[in-house]
Amino acid sequence: MSAKRRVGIVGASGYTGGELLRLLALHPEVEVTVATSREYAGQPITSVHFHLRGFVGNLKFSPLSIDLLLEKCDLVFMSTPAGVSKDLTPKLLEHGLSVIDLSPDFRLKDPRQYEVWYEFEHPAPDLLEKAVYGLPELHREELRSAKLVANPGCNATAALLSLIPAVEAGAIDPEHIAVDVKVGSSEAGMKPSIGTHHPERANVMRPYEASGHRHVAEVEQELRRVAGKEVRVALVPHAVGAVRGALATSHVWLTDGSLDELALWRTYAKRYGNEPFVRIVRGRYPDPKYVIGSNFTDVGVAVEQRLGRAALFAAIDNLMKGAAGQAVQCMNIVLGIDERTGLNYPPLRPV
Ligand SMILES: NC(=O)c1ccc[n+]([C@@H]2O[C@H](COP(=O)([O-])OP(=O)(O)OC[C@H]3O[C@@H](n4cnc5c(N)ncnc54)[C@H](OP(=O)(O)O)[C@@H]3O)[C@@H](O)[C@H]2O)c1
Repeated sequence: MSAKRRVGIVGASGYTGGELLRLLALHPEVEVTVATSREYAGQPITSVHFHLRGFVGNLKFSPLSIDLLLEKCDLVFMSTPAGVSKDLTPKLLEHGLSVIDLSPDFRLKDPRQYEVWYEFEHPAPDLLEKAVYGLPELHREELRSAKLVANPGCNATAALLSLIPAVEAGAIDPEHIAVDVKVGSSEAGMKPSIGTHHPERANVMRPYEASGHRHVAEVEQELRRVAGKEVRVALVPHAVGAVRGALATSHVWLTDGSLDELALWRTYAKRYGNEPFVRIVRGRYPDPKYVIGSNFTDVGVAVEQRLGRAALFAAIDNLMKGAAGQAVQCMNIVLGIDERTGLNYPPLRPV
């Protein structure tokens, strides 16, 4: 049997970093050798991630050191806020490491778009073309040889998985798509702010960044590729009181008014039939409550023929298929192993 691959996590004290530690603790093919946190350096992993007691051996948080990552890792996950990976990742790639970036720093192909959506000038524009957008349902073949994976945002993952089959089939008007996403509080990361700490966030149903949410850039980029023409998307996220979960409802107009719900459902069933982590729901609508703790996406459709429109749904756990689960799925593909490894178990119920 070949030796386990050595994996590092930069930003291991946060929510997606913690979820990676949880998933990789039982992964048979990899071993976490470095887990960085500037704030908790030197402290045991369980001093932050109490739930991992008994699963992370004696691993301690390390300070952020490129030399340490180069010495001890073959592959590194970047679980850092926007703007951190763009400077670190090129150094890791230069020395032959593979990188799976959970932040937005390498998701967009056009460097000018970083100035528009993220307010920074990209320091490594040549790497943007080489990065593979980490949605296996769209880029599985390219992922097999990727050195740099740009893992999608959670709202973007839900939006894209709700829309891909309909756009691919030419069943909807690609220039009039409105996506509504409800998302739980863990999406905002571990550091509380005035809008995200518990008394402010509990029980809310609050729209935010209702015009110009950053994930629109990656959703339009990927759907444009699928459609082979211009695609325009409005996306309005809503903060809701749940801790985990994201539900995308995409409102679209049908190109063929005679298309009924069963026919559209069949398009989805055919497109996703072989996908290991997409389930097609019929007889009820997708609900994040039934995917929490798993890497599954539940998708479904509703057609309102009277108006020639449809609502397309995708429900995910934002920390799993929306972040760490998808990152592990991509890692498995990059490593050439079964992509379900370490991920193939059902959701929790009740949550
Ligand atoms: N939460 C989600 O549902 C979700 C879903 C998809 C994608 N993402 C993306 O994943 C990334 C991480 O999100 P998260 O929710 O895990 O955030 P988080 O809980 O706030 O954790 C951020 C981590 O990054 C470290 N960090 C912060 N600033 C840093 C810097 N300048 N240099 C090095 N390390 C730094 C932090 O530890 P120290 O400060 O101690 O070093 C912490 O471990 C973000 O880009 C986010 O947009 C999140």
